[in-house]
Amino acid sequence: MNREKVKKFWYDRAQAVNVPRPESLVNFQRDAVTADLYLKTELAVINAELPLKNSDVLVDLGAGNGRFSLLFAPKVRKVAAVEYIEGFAAEIAKQARERGYTNIEVLNSPAEDFCVVNSADVIFVSGLLHYLDNEQYDQTVNNISKTLKPGGILFLRETISVLENEFIVDKFSEELGAYYCSIYRTGGQHIETLSQKQFMLLKAGPFFENGSIFNKRLETHLHYFIFQKRIPRINSDIKAYPEDAGY
Ligand SMILES: C[S@@+](CC[C@H](N)C(=O)[O-])C[C@H]1O[C@@H](n2cnc3c(N)ncnc32)[C@H](O)[C@@H]1O
Repeated sequence: MNREKVKKFWYDRAQAVNVPRPESLVNFQRDAVTADLYLKTELAVINAELPLKNSDVLVDLGAGNGRFSLLFAPKVRKVAAVEYIEGFAAEIAKQARERGYTNIEVLNSPAEDFCVVNSADVIFVSGLLHYLDNEQYDQTVNNISKTLKPGGILFLRETISVLENEFIVDKFSEELGAYYCSIYRTGGQHIETLSQKQFMLLKAGPFFENGSIFNKRLETHLHYFIFQKRIPRINSDIKAYPEDAGY
């Protein structure tokens, strides 16, 4: 996968105009009705599965134009929004100013370089990992593990391959009108990698039911994964793979 092509894709997306909702820049929903239904369904899952405390420091890695950073800011002590496309980073800062949120720090930086040891209670990673090549992916996972406090929560919202192996896209997309590259790893691959970096899986599942119009591709579906960073020796009886996770 070519890093420059991925970055160019996102640079161009940040310039796009005439989208029905600001979120469509990052989730590709092309009409307002579908965009709203998509957002409503995924927010119901996130609100139910990610309880936040007003003392939490939350990192939003690959924050896009900030839809989740802006949603979480009133619920937590601080949000660090990490995004490498300047146009998106500037948009988050602008939206935060307009809403009077003073607790969002915007970091215009590659996700794989972000590391502040033991600083975060929650790390939220939405739609980022499949844009990372294997080296960036390993570096990001290592830095997530260092940044999260023991006992902290890693919430992944990620499109995964539902095939036996990863599903790679590296071609011009007629639908998006742009060259598009992604490595969709399987749920099992994410779980295996993270379990080697002190994470245990608490819960996982699909955002959309089988047959939903939002599962556009046969090969990939949008899932969430909730991991907890191990607290040394205290939680050693909790299994890395809950029996009902199905990955
Ligand atoms: C599908 S969008 C998701 C945005 C946001 N997390 C959301 O769910 O609305 C993927 C985002 O990841 C960003 N991204 C891709 N590779 C990145 C990298 N190496 N470092 C930082 N951001 C990256 C893109 O610029 C884009 O904003």
